[in-house]
Amino acid sequence: MRRVNREVSDPKLQLEILRRCHVCRIALNDSEVGSPYILPLNFALGRKDGHPVLYFHGASEGRKYELLAQDSRCSFEADCDHALVSDESTAYCTFQYSSVIGHGRLSIVPDEEKFAALQAINNHGHPGGFPVNEASVAHTTVMRLDVEAMTGKSNVGKISDKALKNIKMARYELLLKQLPALLEGESDETARYANAAAMIHEAFGFWWTGFYRVVALSDCTSGGLGDQDASGSHSDQDASSSFSDHVASGGHGSHGAQAGDTEELLLGPFQGPVACMHIGYGRGVCGTAWKENRTVVVPDVEQFPGHIACSSASRSEIVVPLHDHGGRVTAVLDIDSKDLGTFDEVDARYLEELVSRL
Ligand code: SME
Repeated sequence: MRRVNREVSDPKLQLEILRRCHVCRIALNDSEVGSPYILPLNFALGRKDGHPVLYFHGASEGRKYELLAQDSRCSFEADCDHALVSDESTAYCTFQYSSVIGHGRLSIVPDEEKFAALQAINNHGHPGGFPVNEASVAHTTVMRLDVEAMTGKSNVGKISDKALKNIKMARYELLLKQLPALLEGESDETARYANAAAMIHEAFGFWWTGFYRVVALSDCTSGGLGDQDASGSHSDQDASSSFSDHVASGGHGSHGAQAGDTEELLLGPFQGPVACMHIGYGRGVCGTAWKENRTVVVPDVEQFPGHIACSSASRSEIVVPLHDHGGRVTAVLDIDSKDLGTFDEVDARYLEELVSRL
């Protein structure tokens, strides 16, 4: 392998790459045509006699079975982690990927192994599991590739920090240029926040991008019932730090006579999955940014005490306060990422500039 720095030599990491892939391409020898016969298939990873195997399924007839009957040697390839990384300002462009290639022997699995293999294929595409349609088993053929050798490659995390920083800065510069045209002639706060959230979300592909506005505490929320609906709609909400939990534990009332006695953060325009609607003063990352009147960058949400887990997919986040002319916090911009360590001082600087123009 030429690019040694990209080699993934640990077999466990090679299997991890395969687990992240949805499609595996296999190639059989087609001596009649004189070139390999290649086909893309859904698959599952398994183990047999201590060795990795790949399971595939298909209809009961087809060219692949004819070729397999003549020659069971088979190569495979799978790839994932795709992202185009380009920076026009420095004419830098690359593609992020991870891949595994290898070869082995392909065979038709015996009936007694078939159901478990189909279940594994279903589960590969549905991490929570998905039942096999028993009626389809009889007319499905399952193949097993006994892997004899494989190698892996990945450039994830190997794209230079400088290039990534340039790309990020170029995107923010573009957003700052586009913002005036986007907001022109519109003074309504909801409309402005909604388009700003959409613009940022789309430019970076974040997991969640939105605003929480500082509003007067309503009777309903101060009574602790206001977020029942919201918390109920979060099936993956972390019970240890959910909003309903902190309301129930008196989240609004334990910090003396300050903004939080009469005000709270209320969900505003956003992009992404459903989110908790009310956040108390000093609560979670948003409440902390409000209380401390500063941008809060959280590289790993699990390390932030009191983080409110609206979605278990969120791994890192940044919260930036918005101010009125007197410097009072009126809202916060909250951005969540599915990756650890997404945000840094560059995001903080540009997002502060961006929200100051809203
Ligand atoms: N993460 C936030 C809660 C809001 S959701 O992420 C949209 C926090 O801890 O403040």
